[in-house]
Amino acid sequence: MAVFAAREACLLFDSKGRRYLIELIVGAQFHHHQGLLPHDDIIGAEEGATLYSSLGRPLVALRPRLADFALKMPRGAAVVYPKDTGAILVWADIKPGDIVVEAGTGSGALTMALARAVGKEGRVISYEQREDHAELARKRIRGFFGFMPEQIELRVGRVEDGLPELRPDRIVLDLPEPWHSVPLATQCLAAGGIFCCYLPTVPQVQQVREALAASGSFLDVMSFEVMMREWTVDGRSVRPSHRMIGHTGFITVARKREPAGESG
Ligand SMILES: C[S@@+](CC[C@H](N)C(=O)[O-])C[C@H]1O[C@@H](n2cnc3c(N)ncnc32)[C@H](O)[C@@H]1O
Repeated sequence: MAVFAAREACLLFDSKGRRYLIELIVGAQFHHHQGLLPHDDIIGAEEGATLYSSLGRPLVALRPRLADFALKMPRGAAVVYPKDTGAILVWADIKPGDIVVEAGTGSGALTMALARAVGKEGRVISYEQREDHAELARKRIRGFFGFMPEQIELRVGRVEDGLPELRPDRIVLDLPEPWHSVPLATQCLAAGGIFCCYLPTVPQVQQVREALAASGSFLDVMSFEVMMREWTVDGRSVRPSHRMIGHTGFITVARKREPAGESG
């Protein structure tokens, strides 16, 4: 494994298991309540190395997983939670080589996961209507990968304006009114293509389900939520943790079909 380099993201763990996400900058210092740690001590160190603060406290340096980075990065818009990201990738069946249209880019958390799933041979065309969010997402994506992956194309604008000229395999929407994109999705998705959206409230789910049903172009439609309950394992105290993320969003997935009478 390559040693840590300047500009890389690094996750520091203190002796209590608290985690701190930093970007490694030559000459900078990490300020922990139990002493300072120069970034220069981490740059050039092996991943997993234990380093010591100016007060002799140990800090372990690891590269963040995408889930760590998404939850810890400073962000403008709410991100898709990692527990939901996994379900989106699986149920929207995002795979190497896919062309995915995504919106809104927001903080870029889902964009990064989509980019990994489609790989270099795929494309993620991500729309964000707010320039400030798009700019922040660009920074976060560079911060995580260390560069802008070639398969990601960030576009500033409304996804509804871009969709008509695109022919994606998958459409993945995390925005408040995805039903406006349903008629466009019926035109631009090929049969077998997948429409997926992530919504925080039940009325929104109802409205997108009505739009999908009214289009007559989708089948195998399902809406679900993902619950993840972490457990505490500490000696004989083995039990669910007291705290849990109670609600994030509902995922809806639908498959495009041929209009009735046109399939063989
Ligand atoms: C909840 S955030 C998306 C977060 C993102 N999925 C992530 O994981 O970081 C929703 C974003 O959608 C953008 N948005 C809302 N409507 C849009 C539209 N019609 N086209 C493009 N972007 C839109 C908003 O500006 C906002 O940044």
